[in-house]
Amino acid sequence: MSDSELLARSWEGRPVEEWRGVWNVPSVAIYERVGSTNDVARRLAEAGAPARTLVIADLQTAGRGRAGRAWHAPAGVALLISIVLRPGATDAAEWAPGTIPLRVGLAVARAVERVADIPVALKWPNDLLIETARTRGKLAGILCEGSLGTAGNGYVVAGIGINVGQSAGEFAPGIAETATSLRLAIGRPVSRAELVAALLEEIARFDDGLGTPFPPEILEELAARDPLLGHEITVDGEQRGVAAGIATDGSLIVREEGGHIAYLHSGTVRLSESGTFAPRKVHP
Ligand code: BTN
Repeated sequence: MSDSELLARSWEGRPVEEWRGVWNVPSVAIYERVGSTNDVARRLAEAGAPARTLVIADLQTAGRGRAGRAWHAPAGVALLISIVLRPGATDAAEWAPGTIPLRVGLAVARAVERVADIPVALKWPNDLLIETARTRGKLAGILCEGSLGTAGNGYVVAGIGINVGQSAGEFAPGIAETATSLRLAIGRPVSRAELVAALLEEIARFDDGLGTPFPPEILEELAARDPLLGHEITVDGEQRGVAAGIATDGSLIVREEGGHIAYLHSGTVRLSESGTFAPRKVHP
């Protein structure tokens, strides 16, 4: 272990070794400090770690976000977790790896709704947004990385960062205007351990379909949580058209000027005009 890595002995009031049994997972490594939980989880996955292997950190010194951005969170207040997922063997015709980050996003949205009782929107491809009477903004982000194939021997590391206990002054410059936390949203502390338990339950619900096209009921839930739907959007800073939903393979459908329909597989998407996205609670 390098100097930048320090394993924790206890986490959220329990010795670390107890969490494996509490969450019923094959293994859990919890760090007081680590570079990036995704890097550790990838190393474990490459060495054959089974699905539901967990890596958690109180502090990341090299936390990564999408598109090469850094992901910052102060020590001990965010849930910084990477989960090894192993999609099963799939027919090539039924293989839709672009659905994986959105399935993870749905699991996070549902878990947060269950634990904090607030509605959560999922902005393609992987931003979790909230808007309550007290606050609005980005609550969580997801970075999925891995080595995939249809033979059932690949892996995905789902790296999830949820702003749980940050107060208003605790966000890094550059994200302070757009980020928010569960504490700011509901005015009381939320247990990170409870969030992990809810997250694992929600991930287990879609395990069988991981990497396959979305069925109609999931498309419906994605539409209900979609803050972009029907709005003018920019993609990587360029005016692009109107967001028209998410396709069965996880791509973003955009109606461009002139009516042409485009399917986006990557990019940073923003609403052209800021407005309310008023998320509703979708899942009971
Ligand atoms: C994003 O919104 O850009 C994605 C952010 C993902 C952050 C999480 S925190 C746990 C895991 N480890 C990392 O280095 N990144 C992910």
